[in-house]
Amino acid sequence: MKITLDGTVYEAEPGQTILEVARANGINIPTLCYMPGLPPFGACRICLVEVERSPALVAACTAPVMEGMNIKTNSKRVIDARRFVVQLLVSCHPLDCMTCEKTGDCTLQDLAYELGVTNPREDEGDRHKYPIDSSNPFIIRDYNKCILCQRCVRVCDEIQGIVAIKNINRGFDTKIATAYDGTLQDSNCVFCGQCVQACPVGALVPKKAVGKGRHWELQKVRTTCPYCGVGCQLNLHMKGDQIAYVSAVEDGSPNKGRLCVKGRFGYDFIYSEDRLKTPLIKENGAFREASWDEALDLVASKFKQIISESGPDAIAGVSCARSINEDSYQMQKLFRAVIGTNNIDHCART
Ligand code: FES
Repeated sequence: MKITLDGTVYEAEPGQTILEVARANGINIPTLCYMPGLPPFGACRICLVEVERSPALVAACTAPVMEGMNIKTNSKRVIDARRFVVQLLVSCHPLDCMTCEKTGDCTLQDLAYELGVTNPREDEGDRHKYPIDSSNPFIIRDYNKCILCQRCVRVCDEIQGIVAIKNINRGFDTKIATAYDGTLQDSNCVFCGQCVQACPVGALVPKKAVGKGRHWELQKVRTTCPYCGVGCQLNLHMKGDQIAYVSAVEDGSPNKGRLCVKGRFGYDFIYSEDRLKTPLIKENGAFREASWDEALDLVASKFKQIISESGPDAIAGVSCARSINEDSYQMQKLFRAVIGTNNIDHCART
């Protein structure tokens, strides 16, 4: 089908939303609650657009395209409506951007700047005074900054399947909370941190990132998680050689923007003084550093000695679950074809 966006005709597929067609054609429609990979939701109303013959403005993230639609994405009416939405959000926001960890990476901050929302409304209303929860080692929860976009709730529920958080109360007192409004560690939260990655403002921030650098000071380095053989894709957000925080690569396989607690928060081991940097050979009860050649020659000579004395079945190998499939294949090949035994297993088999 064909639709018109800001005076230009574009091709669209049935089932696409206005937002999807606009983004596919490089037209920016701002969003707060929209998340790729989740069904349309329509909570924040920042993506409003003007559709010809529709009396009300339409949420672009939920509205499916129809043949011949004529849509304005940046008319004065649209911009005024978006500005009003942001003014409402800002009117009960703490406005502590100078000390907020999320400064420079906050969608609300960007929208307020873009739409010229410089001050809270004159008829400023109440503000929340929720206590900040930093009682767990991973996530700081400051719901005074929450815009109730529901992204954290939806990733926890619809992607992770954990359902650790939901809305409680009504109206102005609506709040994201665990059951009985307790701490995350007293809930069924598994600390995967998907909620942190989904939060567009500073309501949920990784605790270890505090004070580690502003967004514009950090360099994003893509890498593979070292914890298991799945090979999840990570972004390390680095200041110099220090990791400020870790996020999942949104469009990277196999994890497609998801991580577990270890991959997202368990990176401190890389700074440990106890890490082995060279092979060690034990002599007279004590370890000494050795080169890789020396260490591998020693292992090979010991294998040969055992095989000549007791046969190849005197040796067994257990490969590691952190290894990728190709490494596990080579491990069994080494044992079967080189050493000559079928004594080979994998620690994750059971
Ligand atoms: Fe469309 Fe929130 S992004 S309503």
